[in-house]
Amino acid sequence: MSRHLLNQGAVKMNKMEVIIVGSGIAALKTAIEASATKHVMLITKSKLRHSNSYLAQGGVAVAMSKEDTPISHREDTIQAGRYYNNATAVEALVQTAPVAISELIASGMEFDRNSEGHLMLGMEGAHSERRILHSHGDATGKYIIEHLLRELALSKVEVMEDTAVVELIMGDDASCIGVKIVNHEGHLQTMCGEHIVLATGGCGSLFQFTSNASTVSGDGIALALKAGARIRDMEFIQFHPTLLYCNGKTQGLVSEAVRGEGAKLVTESGKAIMKDVHALADLAPRHIVAQTIYSYIERGENVYLDISMISNFRERFPTVAALCLKNGIHLEEGKIPVAPGNHFLMGGIETDGKGRTSVEGLYAVGEVACTGVHGANRLASNSLLEGLVFGSTLGRYLQQAPQRVLPQEKKTLKKTSPGLITLPELADIQKHLMHYAGIVRNAKDLGRLKAWLESFQIDCLLELACENASIHELAKVNAIIVSWLIAESALARQESRGGHFRSDYPIENDAVWLDTSIILDRHEVIKRLKGSVVYEFIKA
Ligand code: SIN
Repeated sequence: MSRHLLNQGAVKMNKMEVIIVGSGIAALKTAIEASATKHVMLITKSKLRHSNSYLAQGGVAVAMSKEDTPISHREDTIQAGRYYNNATAVEALVQTAPVAISELIASGMEFDRNSEGHLMLGMEGAHSERRILHSHGDATGKYIIEHLLRELALSKVEVMEDTAVVELIMGDDASCIGVKIVNHEGHLQTMCGEHIVLATGGCGSLFQFTSNASTVSGDGIALALKAGARIRDMEFIQFHPTLLYCNGKTQGLVSEAVRGEGAKLVTESGKAIMKDVHALADLAPRHIVAQTIYSYIERGENVYLDISMISNFRERFPTVAALCLKNGIHLEEGKIPVAPGNHFLMGGIETDGKGRTSVEGLYAVGEVACTGVHGANRLASNSLLEGLVFGSTLGRYLQQAPQRVLPQEKKTLKKTSPGLITLPELADIQKHLMHYAGIVRNAKDLGRLKAWLESFQIDCLLELACENASIHELAKVNAIIVSWLIAESALARQESRGGHFRSDYPIENDAVWLDTSIILDRHEVIKRLKGSVVYEFIKA
């Protein structure tokens, strides 16, 4: 393929007060709040409606019934997170949730109600109370985003679609002072900003099997690492047990709420596979269900969701029904073929409770951020809530932030051209990650993955000037860097906890690891790369 380098001669644009990258719930909420006092630019590499939030079929967890309390919500969140959560972040999430949801409803958001007009509260796996709000059944994310987009349209936020951020601009004091962006015609521009917010989502589409939007590829994490930010706990990835599985490919999510309504996981011959595995059977924690399904698929047995007992399936799950129809699955047969895949990243760019990263001027919010709120595994329906609560907190913080005088831009000599390194295809990276760093991991496979990734000279890729690459090459470079962070972190955590399962260390080991976070910054990455056998071999 010919290489179309980004158009040279960067144009400098006006300085913004707040620049937000992304278009999911966290991005929109931060933008709307911050725009009350600040000039905000929201940049998304695709379209506003192309995000994981828009696809979210699950609902929003909130302790709103008389029987429920934020304390109970907190306990369920921490239990799902395997006691690895940041207690302050969890407290902020569960205590703010009822206020945030009441504000959303007051501003016109409609959640599903029963015939008496009361909010319907659903049950999901690992929740001890009915506390999940939905909108239009399994289309909650879409309707919240549509609601926020109406608010965005009324705000003063400026929006740039089809525009990718390819580099963060750094000041000579190591703070972040802006972004380099590329539009769909390949024109490179620079935009300075006092506060740069990454809200780019996790890294789901780096895996062959995923529920995520194709745009969610970890680029925010790669940008932050290159800018010097601390990246934390990248081994904690949640694999959702039930993605629609057709012709060897996953085609989107089949919500856990389907099992909440009674669906059972069965083999071709009808054997119920979860019955003897866990007391909660089909509603056991996600990692246990995912590992069980995976073990059957590994043995060559297909797994299905038996939905024959759900009489009103099309009305209750219109999104799943439409997905099945699109992929030629006949619901009348009562069976949906499923397989597990990457769903959510619990790790990410380390932030404090306000969304500040370790780099001044740089913030992260939503799935791309690691506040520690989800610990080692996220409780169902806590992700839209996270975006709403922490987006609101960050937006309000930015409203009040004093004016920042930006330092001079740091001048760096970046020489590498990826033309000198043969990069793999994205599909190849996705297959490698799924196979070697997927649902069941071990040292041998992770070591192989790391060696393969290191053969692309990651230390050089970290130095790459975006002017020397095409947009496709930059996407691959980011994918390699983020994949390496996952492999390195998964190799370092020698126990199994939440979403991270090591067959060579199958048990949780509090004594060794409970307080140990795996934190990698650029300096640490280079240090570890220089100690690797592959590095020695390549440089020899
Ligand atoms: C689902 O509906 O199964 C996904 C919900 C979530 O991940 O919170």
